[in-house]
Amino acid sequence: MKLAQTFGQFGGQYVPPLLVERLQELEQAFLRYKEDAAFKKELAKLLKDYVGRPSPLYFAERLSKQVGNKIYLKREDLNHTGAHKINNTLGQALLAKRMGRKTLIAETGAGQHGVATATAAALMGMDCIIFMGEVDVDKQKMNVYRMELLGAEVRVVKSGLKTLKEAVDEALMHYIEHPEVFYLLGSQVGPHPYPQIVRHFQKVIGEEAKKQILEQEGRLPDEIIACVGGGSNAIGIMSAFIDDKDVGLIGVEPAGKGLKTGKHAATLTLGSPGVIHGFRCMLLQDKDGNPSEVYSIASGLDYPGVSPEHSHLHETGRGEYVTVTDREALAAFHDVTRQEGIIPALETAHALAYLYKMKPEGKIVILNFSGRGDKDVDFVAKHR
Ligand SMILES: Cc1ncc(COP(=O)(O)O)c(C=O)c1O
Repeated sequence: MKLAQTFGQFGGQYVPPLLVERLQELEQAFLRYKEDAAFKKELAKLLKDYVGRPSPLYFAERLSKQVGNKIYLKREDLNHTGAHKINNTLGQALLAKRMGRKTLIAETGAGQHGVATATAAALMGMDCIIFMGEVDVDKQKMNVYRMELLGAEVRVVKSGLKTLKEAVDEALMHYIEHPEVFYLLGSQVGPHPYPQIVRHFQKVIGEEAKKQILEQEGRLPDEIIACVGGGSNAIGIMSAFIDDKDVGLIGVEPAGKGLKTGKHAATLTLGSPGVIHGFRCMLLQDKDGNPSEVYSIASGLDYPGVSPEHSHLHETGRGEYVTVTDREALAAFHDVTRQEGIIPALETAHALAYLYKMKPEGKIVILNFSGRGDKDVDFVAKHR
């Protein structure tokens, strides 16, 4: 049995021959264990007792009044380690263990995936190396220290723009040179089978949300909203609703300092098909196909590529992708904190900012509250 390698024209495996065999081995292990009763039981127990799932679907009454739609927040911020990333890292770390791997490596932007991977490594008694750009290390100091406390080695990446793309470059290079490690990819990107694996381990978000909204409202929502960096939290919540054609799927990309300034990471909105990090997707690129410099105030959103599945949903029109600037995200960060008493991650604040741009029509909206803002408080305080 094999999984589909592509989503329409996007996805695939653009890697050196050396990696093809290892990715095939990964695919076979994934196919075997995702249906394995003992594996499923172990993961389900961890998600319940260690992560705290199911995460609540919370009706945000004051925010709803403010924006004129009925807003439900899917509280991934309440997960252990503070974001959705842990769902995927525990799944992949269990897979790594079944494959006999002893070292996990990962890239991180905001540090949430790094913390989640270091946590999984500590839990399972594995070694862990995290690659992180120098700019992000500076911005997300608390998460760097958390990773170190958890026993991970944080390798500071000083090439290029010193952010997420370069961290992925270095992690991939390390993976190629060290066949004994397991590369635990943190978003719905990378060569096949990673986008399928990440989708599988994140789809729990949407499955829970669907059940919860049916319990609370007796019907499906009008819109699902999520921020899009690489696309994992968005696909996690959207996947359960893709076949429900009346449910709108809205992904929010970072417009940074403005779409016309060149300082943004609005990949689906302004990109074109291209190849990065071993897969085909919508890409911000120059005329020679080199990834463009990208920017966002949120370290977890500044990636020049994006999930192949979101690229496909965008191309077919099933998904709608919109943008929010740094300024709008910061305003929502402050507003929602005051309205609801919940401090969002700057990534999540992008999705929240879109609520203020929607028409007030009394719609039922589920917003994936992908992470908590503790990691961003210092940064926001300095940049008020
Ligand atoms: C809290 C939070 N939300 C969203 C993202 C964006 O990643 P993705 O698009 O894979 O969900 C990140 C990435 O670091 C994050 O930390």
